[in-house]
Amino acid sequence: MSVLFSKLTIRDVTLRNRVLVSPMCMYSSDDGFANDWHMVHLGSRAVGGAAAVITEATAVTADGRISPQDLGIWQDAHVEPLARIFRFIAQQGAVPGMQLAHAGRKASTARPWEGGGPVAVAEGGWTPIHAPSAIPFTPGWQTPRAMTDEDIASVIDAFRAAATRLLAAGGRIVELHAAHGYLLHEFLSPLTNHRTDRYGGSFDNRIRLVLDTTDAVRAVWPERLPLCVRISATDWVEDGWSIDESIALARRLKDRGADVIDCSSGGTVPHAQIHLGPGYQVPFAERIRREAGIMTAAVGMITGAAQAEQVLHLGQADAVVLARQLLRDPYWPMHAAMELNEDVEPPVQYSRAFPRPRA
Ligand SMILES: Cc1cc2nc3c(=O)[nH]c(=O)nc-3n(C[C@H](O)[C@H](O)[C@H](O)COP(=O)(O)O)c2cc1C
Repeated sequence: MSVLFSKLTIRDVTLRNRVLVSPMCMYSSDDGFANDWHMVHLGSRAVGGAAAVITEATAVTADGRISPQDLGIWQDAHVEPLARIFRFIAQQGAVPGMQLAHAGRKASTARPWEGGGPVAVAEGGWTPIHAPSAIPFTPGWQTPRAMTDEDIASVIDAFRAAATRLLAAGGRIVELHAAHGYLLHEFLSPLTNHRTDRYGGSFDNRIRLVLDTTDAVRAVWPERLPLCVRISATDWVEDGWSIDESIALARRLKDRGADVIDCSSGGTVPHAQIHLGPGYQVPFAERIRREAGIMTAAVGMITGAAQAEQVLHLGQADAVVLARQLLRDPYWPMHAAMELNEDVEPPVQYSRAFPRPRA
């Protein structure tokens, strides 16, 4: 039996295999609402056999959206359309989850296919943009406002309220987005956090917002359900956030009730030199798993069944998280099962297309 198709239990949630759908912005919402696009996009990956389907970065406040078209969970009215999708995902045997996010200084930008640059107020963007320090992402982007204590308290509250709504919608995995240069990551990295108060400076101060947010979410997120944190394990810049700090943070997150660290990287500054290649972030998942003693998920250019199996077999991670490969092939888990000669049940409606291996 492969490790890829073995079950994984985290708290009271059992995943049918080790393949997770990575959060992927769809930039397809109106006022934060989930719609038919999200049903088909997320639903197909559940039909395709993934163990958990995690929504895109879902904004905890309207001004925390990356783009005006982001999915959101900042109001109670967002719950019902999400609940419909989550019910469908669960009916397919997958576990529905959500990535909760605040874009920080990278908020109010255009969809990638519309250039991805800042969106002015007149074009549906907004201001102020919040960040630890008043440093724009790159020249020409909005200069954010350095957050006050009240701003910080209200963002923590927004994460807490969003987690409560997620629970009401039937979500069973919560992932905090502390990666890719968005708000929580901006507090972690010395490149973006120049504060001199208790949220900036020392390592303990820079991680405070992530820990406080984790505490706030864990307080309303039931003990029986998993909490993950996606981090950028490195900024890929000298003097930036590092893998050693990530390991130290992971230890602290574990103490606060986080269950899995989803190990991504980069996104803080535009000039980072990222060393891309197959499985390029797997070594981060491996070190964090080994040195912090917490479950990790490996993500980034994992595309093949044998490759994914190897990551798990070598104990580099507990699960693999796929993004683009699952866009190319929503049935990747079924195809991977065939390649590894695993007996995985397709949806009954599709059973004639996915023959079961002989015993
Ligand atoms: C269309 C698209 C949207 C994405 N949106 C998000 C997102 O909302 N949150 C996030 O943490 N990462 C996001 N990412 C990054 C992916 O989750 C993943 O980490 C990255 O693509 C590397 O994995 P891959 O090589 O399997 O694609 C996005 C990637 C793509 C391709």
